[in-house]
Amino acid sequence: MNIRENVPIAELTTMRLGGPARYVIEIEEDKDLAEAYHFAQDKNLPTYILGSGSNVIGRDGGFDGVILVNRLRGIYVIDSDQTSIRLCAKSGELLDDLVEYSVKLWNGEGFGYSGIEALSKVPGTVGAMPVQNVGAYGQEAKQVLHSVCVYDCRDNCFKHMMADELDLGYRHSIFNTGDGVGRYFITSVTVELRKTQLTPPFYTSLQAYLDEREITDYSPQVIRDAVAAIRASKLPDPAVEASAGSFFKNVYLNETEAKAAEAKGIPVWDGGKVPSGWLIEQAGLKGKDYFGMRVSEKAALVLINDHAKSYSDLAQAREAIVSAVFEKYGYRLEQEPMEIGEA
Ligand code: EPU
Repeated sequence: MNIRENVPIAELTTMRLGGPARYVIEIEEDKDLAEAYHFAQDKNLPTYILGSGSNVIGRDGGFDGVILVNRLRGIYVIDSDQTSIRLCAKSGELLDDLVEYSVKLWNGEGFGYSGIEALSKVPGTVGAMPVQNVGAYGQEAKQVLHSVCVYDCRDNCFKHMMADELDLGYRHSIFNTGDGVGRYFITSVTVELRKTQLTPPFYTSLQAYLDEREITDYSPQVIRDAVAAIRASKLPDPAVEASAGSFFKNVYLNETEAKAAEAKGIPVWDGGKVPSGWLIEQAGLKGKDYFGMRVSEKAALVLINDHAKSYSDLAQAREAIVSAVFEKYGYRLEQEPMEIGEA
């Protein structure tokens, strides 16, 4: 087991902020987990699990504990029948690699299984998929998740959990709420995909892309390519510009609030969702620089670390954006990425 000391969290996360982590251990096989947790428990130190670090922001004080970096690899076909297939992916695989694998699989009649093609190019690992019920362009992890295998560090044993035990909601699961936080290391995720293709109507921007090009073949590969093109044109690549995907969650309103919003000319989708990107753009903040953090010109929901020196720069930028939107619309935006470490 490879143990490193005093590693800056900035080096492990795509937002590239954050002080040192006392220890970092790379988990390469399931069996490393018992040893790694034993190491941490022996020293009475907390643990934190990182995948590719694309949805986590490090705080300045660093983390006086053990970061477990997920390097578990492998994608396997579990079983299949006339209409569907189950794929099991180790949690350290990139989600996009699992999507690629699924759209290229021969299904007996053609290539590709449907269910995660719209999640193409979502940054992050397969392990993050159930944690925040990853969703994009009309698909969401919840629709395809069959089960997960985890290491439970409270009971010090491996467990198998079915999807309906995970309390999956918008960017929400047992893994990012309450007692579940930090308790489970997800080792693998099983998804159930179907032989059928998606049918329109699609997510607004995806539909517009297909219509403009008169595309009527909705095979998983075609949808994957379309989503990849839309994302490339709209979302900054965290490998090029330091960022963490959507920095704010969308706003969800109840029926009364939604009616009031619509009366004011605010767009409300799916009965209650207000796109925070719209609110930020309308508040005139696109392209603005706050303390070295820039509101992306392409997608207002994304915050880019141009030259922020610390987490406190980011915290001030966040406050400025949240206040501007609150003053104009009365909604208090909430941060989407998780945080690690002391302030
Ligand atoms: N909009 C603007 N200006 C902007 C951005 C968006 O006006 O700069 C408005 C537009 O009306 C647009 C609507 O917001 O039609 C929705 O925008 P988009 O389809 O780009 O999606 P989003 O709500 O900004 C969410 C997810 C993304 C996911 C996309 C596509 C959250 C927090 N974000 O963004 O997920 O890729 O939908 O499904 O739910 C992520 O979580 O890191 C992420 C990128």
